[in-house]
Amino acid sequence: MVTATAQKARTNGKPGPKHNIEAVRQEYYERISKHDMTPLWKVMGSVVTKEPKTRVQPVVWHFDDVKRLVMESGGLITAEEAERRVLILENPGMRGESKATNTLFAGIQMILPGEVAPAHQHVSSAIRFVLDGEGAYTAVEGEKSFMSPGDFVITANWAPHDHGNTSKQPMLWLDVLDFPQVNFFETSFAAQFKEATQATNREDGDSTAFYASGVLPDNAPARMNSSPVINYTYARTRPIVERMKKAGDVDKRHGARVRYANPITGGPVLPTMGAYLAMLPKGFKGEKYRSTDGTILVCVEGQGTTTVDGKVLEWGPNDVFVVPPWKHYAHKADKESVLFSISDRPAQEALGIWREDASH
Ligand SMILES: [Fe+2]
Repeated sequence: MVTATAQKARTNGKPGPKHNIEAVRQEYYERISKHDMTPLWKVMGSVVTKEPKTRVQPVVWHFDDVKRLVMESGGLITAEEAERRVLILENPGMRGESKATNTLFAGIQMILPGEVAPAHQHVSSAIRFVLDGEGAYTAVEGEKSFMSPGDFVITANWAPHDHGNTSKQPMLWLDVLDFPQVNFFETSFAAQFKEATQATNREDGDSTAFYASGVLPDNAPARMNSSPVINYTYARTRPIVERMKKAGDVDKRHGARVRYANPITGGPVLPTMGAYLAMLPKGFKGEKYRSTDGTILVCVEGQGTTTVDGKVLEWGPNDVFVVPPWKHYAHKADKESVLFSISDRPAQEALGIWREDASH
């Protein structure tokens, strides 16, 4: 028989018979909860997982649908009203969060002939990867760069930027921003400029000539955590992956691939986002690979599939697709293909948490 005294002793720290333990613990959890405390042992398995867990799903957006739907928005809202006319590519595993992966935003921006997307700046870094159209410009840090399909344009942290389309056709590009990372740290700032367009004092291509040509301005800084190059043009980069393919420098998993580099340091173009361009020879059957950086890819040319965790994503020109973190994937190219990719790998590497697994 349990006496009242014995019962009191148990609830004062020493657990009693088994059938009482849960009730005693529950009462304890409720009591400490009033002090904003909670037991780690109840959540240990979900906060320190044995392997990466992700809500990101493999997904592909086909350009036929994307272009049709984005063009429709041209009749609904002006670039001026919208400030940026962008449709967000939302990962189906995270609807409502404006994310393509857990750390990256992706959107399709359209700018019609004669339109201007007004000048502003923000802490989030952005990249543009041009999909369709010719001759619209983006002005970044005083350089007005005219863009063509396959061009990779970067807008680093706090760089003033505006866009305009002086051509006769719409231009569409993929925007990728790191704001899920910036917002995770709760460090977002943004500002509008009084003038819609910034004054430009550098010629188109100046930053490429000055910094990405094997020479550097005599007074160039020795360290910069983002690249001074505004536009890594497709006209310059594509022949390099083609040359790699011809030289037989074809990785079994990634194809003939180059990493876009900051010419000052050799490091990534931005501290939060890193990008690659790869050529997959016709008939390429890539080996399985996985890494901890969830990745956004664009088919620039060609046709093929990427199998992610058993799911087959079919891609053709301008299709955008996502490979979640730590899921095995393998590329197959039916035709000679070119893939652009971007991920948060530099941020993970800077923190020492990036991992890859090339075994299968
Ligand atoms: Fe912006």
